[in-house]
Amino acid sequence: MIRVNVPLLGDRERELVLECLESTWISGRGPYVTRFEEMFAGYCGMRYGVSTPTGTTALHLALATLGIGPGDEVIMPALTIASCAFAIAYTGARPVLVDSEPVTGNLDPAQVEAKVTPQTRAIMPVHLYGHPVDMDPVLDIARRHALHVVEDAAEAHGALYRGRVAGGMGTIGCFSFYANKLVTTGEGGMMVTSDPALAEHADRLKELAHVPGHRFLHDEIGFNYQMTNLQAALGIAQLERIDEAIAKKRWMADQYAAQLADVPGLLLPTEAPWARSVYWMYAVRVTEESSLSRDEVMAALRERGVDTRTFFVPMHQQPVFERLGWFAGERYPVAEALSETGFYLPSGLAITADQIQAVCEAVRDVMGLR
Ligand SMILES: Cc1ncc(COP(=O)(O)O)c(C=O)c1O
Repeated sequence: MIRVNVPLLGDRERELVLECLESTWISGRGPYVTRFEEMFAGYCGMRYGVSTPTGTTALHLALATLGIGPGDEVIMPALTIASCAFAIAYTGARPVLVDSEPVTGNLDPAQVEAKVTPQTRAIMPVHLYGHPVDMDPVLDIARRHALHVVEDAAEAHGALYRGRVAGGMGTIGCFSFYANKLVTTGEGGMMVTSDPALAEHADRLKELAHVPGHRFLHDEIGFNYQMTNLQAALGIAQLERIDEAIAKKRWMADQYAAQLADVPGLLLPTEAPWARSVYWMYAVRVTEESSLSRDEVMAALRERGVDTRTFFVPMHQQPVFERLGWFAGERYPVAEALSETGFYLPSGLAITADQIQAVCEAVRDVMGLR
């Protein structure tokens, strides 16, 4: 089976993790965490990095740091991972959904302003599948309504929007370092910001919110959201090679595009003229021209040894939110269509030219081109 994701881990990762083990700095705080935070924030063009155990906790920490809570609303795309809506829910605030634009599948900036209410505190654009959101209109709306922008760049390390790094454009940028991400620490996350007060607040909140100088005194409800030095050591080694990782993903996308461009019934991902996509996953869609449904294509690929994954299920179609009575009667037709027709092909950093060729042959076979 050609797996959807196999991470690329090498000698440098082994060297730094062993060095960390030998140093005995294995829990949260310590030199590897500090170095990784500084390196990663710098890479994003931000001044401060606050590491977390996962991307989901990075999103929660970001919102909590901004003081978002009950009675507040946060605007986010309908089509994304549940982590985004969950992070908002953890604070007691409510997510407000926006449909996707059909080309990239990202949140449609033209539909954001209509969702702003007196309760809105923040907009959370999510750079899906490695392609940046069209950020200028989002940043403009945020500026005019005095809203925070919490970018979710969990799938877009190093993606560029008009030369600016994804996660480096808003008030706070959030990342995941799960094993299928462009930079991995196994599990892990980080929020980055250039605001020293937010960075300091986040740094305290993530370690039980101790009153400075008083180890067992707390003046607000904190979390234990620490990344370990072992994770950070892995992350440093990964970040040293991020340019190679991005080049590999873009090479992979070129290979797929060249071998699949003429396949009828299959819509390939594109890159906006203002974007550098990092093709976190090679995300394709089955169109009406195909005689097979998306699920039939995926099943046939599986029979041929190719593992794939569907796109996310939109938030308004999630049983958990239905039960809570959220998004009742709301429809997001573009997000729904993307969710029903989209899937992604094996895209891990360890993928080889032979594997891509085998995947493409299987796709061509399934779609009747061989
Ligand atoms: C867009 C997006 N946001 C947030 C997350 C959550 O990250 P984690 O799995 O590290 O909690 C993910 C997934 O991994 C993601 O794809």
